[in-house]
Amino acid sequence: MTARIIDGKAFAAILRESVAEHVAHLKQTKGITPGLAVVLVGDDPASQVYVRSKGKQTVEVGMHSYEYKLPADTSEYDLLALIEQLNYDLSVHGILVQLPLPKHIDEALVINAIDPAKDVDGFHISNAGLLATGQKAMVPCTPLGCLMMLREYCGNLSGLNAVVIGRSNIVGKPMAQLLLRESCTVTVAHSRTKNLPEILREADIVVAAVGRPLFVQSYWLKEGATVIDVGINRIDQADGTTRLVGDVDYDTAKEVAGAITPVPGGVGPMTIACLLANTVTACCRAHSLPEPKRLTI
Ligand code: GUN
Repeated sequence: MTARIIDGKAFAAILRESVAEHVAHLKQTKGITPGLAVVLVGDDPASQVYVRSKGKQTVEVGMHSYEYKLPADTSEYDLLALIEQLNYDLSVHGILVQLPLPKHIDEALVINAIDPAKDVDGFHISNAGLLATGQKAMVPCTPLGCLMMLREYCGNLSGLNAVVIGRSNIVGKPMAQLLLRESCTVTVAHSRTKNLPEILREADIVVAAVGRPLFVQSYWLKEGATVIDVGINRIDQADGTTRLVGDVDYDTAKEVAGAITPVPGGVGPMTIACLLANTVTACCRAHSLPEPKRLTI
């Protein structure tokens, strides 16, 4: 079997188009322009790339982008003061604090200082709790993008065996909650799981978010499984160059899986598209307007 390739890039382009259409509609009919504030503390090169990309795409879909680039030695107090200011700012509908933060800043304290209604990352404990109890939440962007693609490729997910590899607050845990909400039978595996190959043999859906390059072997997979690879790992090659790979051994897994996301071009592009979608959703909720169905799940 050769898997269908799940084209996250194309999927994200369609989602961004829907976001842009809704932003134009909000402007024309209500005079409202959604705004996203992104806060970056320090000069981590990867974070700088992500933040630049988020700002660019925010503007491209017609929204306001507010970027705050703070030095690495910014105090926790000053960061919390900025968040409070953004919480009160009516032109800001979404707030994202890029992670990781410098070591001297308490990440949980900062995330939980964001107004949950503006928490477009869905990392605030209120949103995590709402998601876990099946209530209306802001849903973290990467799992949201994964679920949109899974629905598209698998249709009804009810009753399917899903294995999430990874237990992070950003991906693994919310992904498991979303799959439970879809009535999947969910197993959360992680780096200490002892019998992963046996567990994966039963999995109709695999979401790999463990952060280990090429970790998931093709012979662990059930024939026809749908495989979503969240990993983005840079590995050195013999010729001195580097290559981006996922957590799944893609080249062999695509011969076993029914559908699979490539790296790059799979989950990655969907994450920012979902951030834009969440910002529009937050804006609609802030103004008590109907939420655009195509932008969420
Ligand atoms: N760092 C890596 N991924 C993310 C993300 O999804 N949101 C934020 N805020 N920081 C990140």
